Amino acid sequence: MDLHDSYGRPISNLRISVNSGCNLRCVYCHREGETKPETPLSLEDIRAILDVAGNIGIRTVKFTGGEPLLREDIVEIIRSVPPGIESSMTTNGTLLGSLAHDLRDAGLARVNISLDSLNPETYKSITGTGLLSDVLEGIEAARDAGLTPIKINMVLLKGINEGEIDDFIHLVSGDRHLILQIIELMDLGGCPLHADLSELEEKIALHSRKVITRRMHHRKKYCYEGAEIEFVRPWHNSDFCNHCTRMRVTSDGKLKPCLLRDDNLVDIRGKRGVELQQLFLAAAKKREPYNK
Ligand code: 5AD
Ligand code: SF4
Repeated sequence: MDLHDSYGRPISNLRISVNSGCNLRCVYCHREGETKPETPLSLEDIRAILDVAGNIGIRTVKFTGGEPLLREDIVEIIRSVPPGIESSMTTNGTLLGSLAHDLRDAGLARVNISLDSLNPETYKSITGTGLLSDVLEGIEAARDAGLTPIKINMVLLKGINEGEIDDFIHLVSGDRHLILQIIELMDLGGCPLHADLSELEEKIALHSRKVITRRMHHRKKYCYEGAEIEFVRPWHNSDFCNHCTRMRVTSDGKLKPCLLRDDNLVDIRGKRGVELQQLFLAAAKKREPYNK
C-alpha cells in the first residue's frame, strides 16, 4: 500500500528526529524535531515506526536530531531499517570519525554533514565549540566508509561566513563524493544573520557548466568550477509545498504532517502495529497545501 494525502501527493519520505539534544549550540539552530524537552523515542518505538514505514510505501528515511549520533543505540536504529527503504542521516559530523564504518555496515547509505565554517575561530563563534577538526575527520571517515555522496550543509550567515563560499567550493571541487548544499537561513522573525541567496545563486547559475533540475523541481544542482552545488531555499519556492512528499516524526514521538505547522501533530509514542499505521493515515489526511 502506498500512502497519499488528500491532494494526491505521495508520502514517500520520512524524517525521524531520534534525539533533541546536541553537542553544539549553533547560534541560528531551529532545534528541529524538538517540540519541548522530553525523553526521545525508544528504540522499540522507532522500530515500530520503521516497520509501518515499510508497509505504507516509504522509500527513504532520514534520521535527524538534534544530533543523532549522540544516541548510543544509533547503529541499532540504522540496522532496524527494513530492506527496500534507503536510510540517510543529517549530522554535525563531530562523532562521525569513529562511527562511520559501523553505520555503513548497519546499512546507512549517505550522510549530510552540517558545516558552516572552515575557519576554526568562526566555527567556534557559530557552534560554541572547537570541534572543527573532528568534523573534518568525520568527513574523511564518511568518504572512506562510502557514505556517499556526502552533502556538506552550509547555512549562509550574513557577516559571518559569506566570505568562505570560495573555500567551500574548493573543498568539494573535483571530488565526486562531495556535494555542497548552500542553505538559506530559515527565520520567521527577521534575524540579522539572514543572508539572501539570490545574488549568489544567479552568479553560480551564470557560470555553471550544466544545471540539472531534479525530479522534485524545487532543487537545482549546478556544476560550477568542478563543484556540485545545490541551493536550499524552501521559502523562496512557491512550488515547495506542491512537491512535498515528506512527513516528520519529532523526537518526542509526534507525527508532523507539515513542516510549516505545529498545530496538527499526531501523537504516536508507544503505539504499535495496526494502530500506529492508522495514525499514519490520519496524519496524512491532515496534510494541507500551505498558503503563506
Ligand atoms: N535555518 C536553516 N538551516 C538550519 N539548520 C538548523 N537550523 C537552521 C535554520 N534556522 C540546518 C543545520 C543542518 C540542518 C539539519 O538544518 O545546519 O544542516
Ligand atoms: Fe542545531 Fe545542528 Fe547546530 Fe546541533 S549541529 S546546534 S542540531 S544546527
